[in-house]
Amino acid sequence: MRLVLLGPPGAGKGTQARMLAERFGATHVASGDLLRTAVKQKTPLGLEARGYMDRGALVPDELVLKLVQEHLDKSDGDKGFILDGFPRSVSQAEALGRMLKSRGVSLDRVVAIIVPDDEIVKRISGRRTCKNCGAMYHIIYDPPRNAGICNSCNGELYQREDDAEDTVRMRLEVYNAETKPLLEYYGRASLLAKVNGVGRPEEIQAQILAAIGSTKVQDARNG
Ligand code: AP5
Repeated sequence: MRLVLLGPPGAGKGTQARMLAERFGATHVASGDLLRTAVKQKTPLGLEARGYMDRGALVPDELVLKLVQEHLDKSDGDKGFILDGFPRSVSQAEALGRMLKSRGVSLDRVVAIIVPDDEIVKRISGRRTCKNCGAMYHIIYDPPRNAGICNSCNGELYQREDDAEDTVRMRLEVYNAETKPLLEYYGRASLLAKVNGVGRPEEIQAQILAAIGSTKVQDARNG
């Protein structure tokens, strides 16, 4: 499986990518998580990326491409990968195309998760993440058993700094300006499937599985 998940902030890309990675044993490559780890570890790349992330802007391509490339190199060639949060612009999509071409492979499918803005704000404002293991919760839709404590490891839950209202608004603007054009880009390449991102995570997962399955049917038909 070589899959890209597209969608605005809070659309559920991370939630769906984790479920898919578990189901298929594919590598989950989440550019946002990789960047947050670099920031936490105060690596030179993390120190440079932090300012962009704090204000909801895109981190420059040369930093992101390096990180993604390293993690794609580590993925299992047979089981494939799920890209979450990358590519985020046409220039990143072109760079991804070059990276895959140099490995002699191509994408199977690009799935866009469509969620209206008011739902995005609800999701992002309620999101909590474990400081220790990275598990994700929502205070209303998927609350932990004990408020503020991770079910899996008892770690402390926190709210991401870039989930403040102003920054979320900026992230949505950046999505509309930079990332949304990828729907057309991948639509032209006949790789795009759109799924309705409103509903229970399992329902959305079923739509994604159907979209991946339909590619296989189409591939078979194309001989
Ligand atoms: P990144 O971490 O990629 O953030 P994002 O794209 O804004 O997406 P989110 O992580 O906010 O949301 P998500 O779609 O994964 O939703 P989730 O599953 O968490 O990027 C952060 C920053 O890093 C960027 O602003 C940028 O600065 C930088 N960056 C990253 N990649 C970059 C790149 N390629 N180039 C340049 N810069 C880059 O779900 C959200 C919440 O909703 C959770 O609480 C979850 O429990 C809940 N939820 C999920 N699904 C459902 C459902 N079906 N129903 C109800 N609740 C649900």
